[in-house]
Amino acid sequence: MKSARSNDPEDSGRDLSEEIKSVTKDCHVRAESTQLMLDYQKGRITLPQYQLLLCSLYEIYKALEEELDRNSSHPGVVPIYFPQELSRLGSLEKDLEHFFGPGWRKKIVIPAATQRYAQRLRQIGRESPVLLVAHAYTRYLGDLSGGQVLGKITQKSLGLSGGGEGLSFFTFPGVQSPNRFKQLYRSRMNSVELTGPERAALLLEAVAAFELNIQVFDDLQKMLTLTTDTSNQTKVKVPASPVMQFTVGICAALATVGMGMYASYR
Ligand code: HEM
Repeated sequence: MKSARSNDPEDSGRDLSEEIKSVTKDCHVRAESTQLMLDYQKGRITLPQYQLLLCSLYEIYKALEEELDRNSSHPGVVPIYFPQELSRLGSLEKDLEHFFGPGWRKKIVIPAATQRYAQRLRQIGRESPVLLVAHAYTRYLGDLSGGQVLGKITQKSLGLSGGGEGLSFFTFPGVQSPNRFKQLYRSRMNSVELTGPERAALLLEAVAAFELNIQVFDDLQKMLTLTTDTSNQTKVKVPASPVMQFTVGICAALATVGMGMYASYR
């Protein structure tokens, strides 16, 4: 795990929200620079890519929000618990149904890195709920920041209608101004009472949260590369329908990779 020590000598005594931003700065650059995110920013996200990403986001938010709900009265969680404003699980379910149809639960495919991320969230929810602050920060403030631009790119890249179908994940009906809400969220983070060791562990966990996201993007990218790598012995004839493209792609990836991947059929 990378060090969560900031290079800034003035960090001691700073608000948690400033310090967490400072210690995750480099990770943020690396997250933005993963191949998946670079393709995304260039408007090169394809339907199969986006469907796979949605499956992973579903698994991550399921774990995050179940643990936040279960620990909602924990003093470390109370200040940053905003289910009405922030919950993403319901919107991800809507989007998954939009892209996969009513049987979407049986079609979810989860790479190993996503599984590890969800396991980590459940572990800290059981053992050290205050660390959920680091994960909630990483995901929700990201969704309210760069995520808003990615929503517009997704709509354009996938040719989705302006009505918002398939784009619920990027929409926060309970948040009128993302910037003002982020300010409120930061002040709530700063009000969490932490011992010195808890604060240090939380900063480390924020770095770990970014790392887990990077690993998810890399895993998804590998799966997708495999599905399109025609030099590989598994040659995939891609059918015209995007949903069929996705299904065939995933089957090829599963058959080719075989290991290190977890497919959930519930
Ligand atoms: C294409 C990829 C991305 C772009 C273009 C992007 C862009 C941005 C931008 C413009 C901000 C606002 C910075 C500011 O207010 O100073 C931001 C903030 C943030 N982003 Fe990203 N981001 C991307 C990916 C990610 C990822 C993958 C994560 C984590 C999973 C993430 C987490 C965050 C967080 C937590 C913040 C809030 C920082 C703070 O104010 O403390 N971002 N991002």
